[in-house]
Amino acid sequence: MSAQTIKSNETPVDKYAEKPIAVFDSGVGGISVLKHIHTLLPNEQLLYVADSKYAPYGNKTAAEIQARCFEIAEFLIAKNAKALVVACNTATAAAIDAMRARYSLPIIGMEPAVKPAAAATKNGIIGVLATTGTLKSAQFAALLESYGRNVKVVTQACVGLVECVERGELDTDNTNALVQQYCAPLLAEGADTIVLGCTHYPFIKPLIEQAVGNNVAIVDTGAAVAKYLQKKLAAQDLLTTVEAEANVAFWTNSQADNSAQVIEALWGAKAEVQIF
Ligand code: DGL
Repeated sequence: MSAQTIKSNETPVDKYAEKPIAVFDSGVGGISVLKHIHTLLPNEQLLYVADSKYAPYGNKTAAEIQARCFEIAEFLIAKNAKALVVACNTATAAAIDAMRARYSLPIIGMEPAVKPAAAATKNGIIGVLATTGTLKSAQFAALLESYGRNVKVVTQACVGLVECVERGELDTDNTNALVQQYCAPLLAEGADTIVLGCTHYPFIKPLIEQAVGNNVAIVDTGAAVAKYLQKKLAAQDLLTTVEAEANVAFWTNSQADNSAQVIEALWGAKAEVQIF
C-alpha cells in the first residue's frame, strides 16, 4: 500500500487544523487575551507577537498601524498560522478591514465591550477607558451608534498607561496616579460600569478596582474573544484534534533588557521568548 493510501476505516487527518493560532498586539497587552485563549483551548498551539518596539499604537495614524499589522501578519503566516487574533482594540479599529481584504485566513479582532456594558449598566451611564486611536476611530463611532444610543457613554483616553504595562509597572505610584486621574472623570459622571477598551488594562485591573470602588462593574473583552475564536474555528473545522496541552511561543522586538521578564510576569509562567 502506498503512503498516500487511506484505509477505509481511517479518517484523513486534517493537518491544517493542527497548525497554530497566532495572536498579536502592539505590545504585551494582548497576553491578557492569550491567557483566555489558552485556558479555553489548551490543546491549541499558540504564537504570540508583541510589537513593543512600535508601542503605543494609540497615537499612530491608521496607515502606520496597518503597515505594522501587515508586517506581523506576514511573519505569523510564514510560521504556519491557521488563524490570526488581533488582540488589540486600536489595531482592530485601524487595520482589520485592510487585513481581511489582503489575507484569506480567519482574522478575529476586538472592540471595546460597549454592547455588554450597555446591557449591564443599572443607572444607564457607562465609562470607556481606551487609547486615543480607538476612541477617535470610525469603528468606535459605529459601535456607539449601534449599542450606545440608550445609555450615556463617557470616554477617557488613557495616555501613558500602555507604556506603564509595557515596562511591567503594574503597581507603581506613577501607574496608580494615572489610573486615578483617568477614572475620576468617569466617576464624576456617575458611571456604574467601566469598559476596559485596551488589552493592556486588564493587567492593572486591581488598581482600577481600587480607584472606582466596589459599586462599579468592570467589563473586559478577553473571555468573549476566546469564545468567539473557538466558535469561528469550530464552524470551519479548524480546531485541533490533538489531546495534549500545547506549546505557547512568544516573540518580541522590545529594546528593553527586561522584556522577557515582563512577558513571563504577565503570562504567569516560564515563557519561551524570542526576538523578531
Ligand atoms: N493593547 C492595545 C489596545 O488594545 C494598545 C494599543 C496601543 O499600543 O496604544 O488598544
